[in-house]
Amino acid sequence: MYESEIAKRKTFAIISHPDAGKTTLTEKFLLFGGQIQTAGAVKSNKITKTAASDFMEIEKQRGISVATSVMTFPYKNSWVNILDTPGHKDFAEDTYRTLTAVDSVILVIDCVKGVEEQTERLMEVCRMRKTPVIVFINKMDRDGKDPFDLLDELEEKLNIGVHPLSWPINGGRDFKGVYLLHNQTLNLFESNKTKKADDMIKIDGVNDAKLDGILNAKDVSKLREDVELIEGVYGDLDMDYYLDAQIAPVFFGSALNNFGIQELLDTFVEIAPNPLPRATSLREVAPNEPKFSGFVFKIHANLDPKHRDRIAFLRVCSGKFERNKNYKHVRLEKQFKFANPYMFLAQSKEVMEDAYPGDVVGLYDTGNFKIGDTLTEGENFTYKGIPSFSPEIFKELINLDPMKSKQLEKGIQQLTDEGLASLFVQEMGSRKFVGTVGELQFEVLQYRLEHEYNAKCRFEARVINKACWMTGSEADLKDFMKYRQNNIAYDKDGRPVFLAETGYILRTAIDKYPDIKFHTTSEH
Ligand code: G4P
Repeated sequence: MYESEIAKRKTFAIISHPDAGKTTLTEKFLLFGGQIQTAGAVKSNKITKTAASDFMEIEKQRGISVATSVMTFPYKNSWVNILDTPGHKDFAEDTYRTLTAVDSVILVIDCVKGVEEQTERLMEVCRMRKTPVIVFINKMDRDGKDPFDLLDELEEKLNIGVHPLSWPINGGRDFKGVYLLHNQTLNLFESNKTKKADDMIKIDGVNDAKLDGILNAKDVSKLREDVELIEGVYGDLDMDYYLDAQIAPVFFGSALNNFGIQELLDTFVEIAPNPLPRATSLREVAPNEPKFSGFVFKIHANLDPKHRDRIAFLRVCSGKFERNKNYKHVRLEKQFKFANPYMFLAQSKEVMEDAYPGDVVGLYDTGNFKIGDTLTEGENFTYKGIPSFSPEIFKELINLDPMKSKQLEKGIQQLTDEGLASLFVQEMGSRKFVGTVGELQFEVLQYRLEHEYNAKCRFEARVINKACWMTGSEADLKDFMKYRQNNIAYDKDGRPVFLAETGYILRTAIDKYPDIKFHTTSEH
């Protein structure tokens, strides 16, 4: 059912290392989608470095990122959903989780810097999930790396094949434009931040004499040489390889100058996958199944500290979601209905009546949702693949006001439910360890616990190298957990986790218990 709606949906994320141009590209997509009239209208969701000491500023900036969390707009025959991801490294786990809710990804690379560290990590997640990727090499108006070297670097560092669909004619001050290999069209560069259409010139391949009248002799001969080489090496793009996440089509352009965006967006809506079947704990669920199901991939606190409600972001996976209809919250085994579900339009959110697979619905939540929760029309399955990763920094939560233990308990539970950090609790709640990927979260947690929950606390650093989820026989696990009792804690879903102090200690444990498998993500 709902096939025509599903066939329109293109749900994706734009990912990049900070500063490569993700915000600029998003804005240009909205401009082409007719959602905004002028460039500069989308505020950056970046949490800037200087903000680390200014907590309200962090919250404000996180607030902006709520507003731009999902941007939906119609484009040609498609219904495009862009899921935004935070740029700041300390919030990388937010990004990983958002990637579980998309069907494909556009990766932005800065042609000057090439493949940067955060890009490598994000791509690892895409590879793990076999998410199809299109690469946009940005800032071609700057003197960057050689395009052939960039392609090699992409293949080498990201462990994925690449296939250029456009090719640049020079770069930096000499940048003349791109040649579109798949439809033999020349797109000439003009520095212009507001134009909405490119100057396309159809030619009959690079050997067309027309080209000599358009570009100078040096550029023509270089382009002919390059294209001959590319066509020899890459041939035609095999769409199956793209959909299987083995090959990434590559475009060159300049987001700031609106250059190369049209062909990127047009190709994207043409080739990017529609919502696909997804694995659950019970079976694979297809988007065209008549009954609704979906999962929560992100939770965000309301910015007003006086109202502690939150917004849970639900990705619809099958059937049709409807306002005011009862749905089953599988973990809580309870029925819920939503009077004011939100749809996110580019600049605003609106109460919606229904949503289809691929769409993201914003649900007001008073503390019933955790990341990964599934809603269905009655069936008892949960969506798989919303992983927790081992944090990198661990601290113990120390209560500074025994009179406020309850508030602290509630606060840390709710804030970690939002996915801001991971909470590991030892038996009987005796000790609580909080794990994050960056220092910034501890500051945010401390501030929010004090201001929203009236609970004072301190975080004490602990020497813990990794949190490991374990699989093995019941007897082995029981034995190991007794042996390392002091280092066992339970995650948000009550699963035991080994908090290994050092890599050496973890290796010793692996040697001593060869039949237990230690995992650094919760999905294995
Ligand atoms: P991000 O979301 O990936 O972190 O990057 P963002 O779009 O904010 O872009 C980072 C910087 O790169 C911005 O400059 C932006 O204007 C610039 N930029 C984006 N695309 C291009 C491009 O095609 N060419 C050139 N030359 N620059 C580009 P900024 O100075 O940090 O910010 P702003 O003051 O210009 O907004």
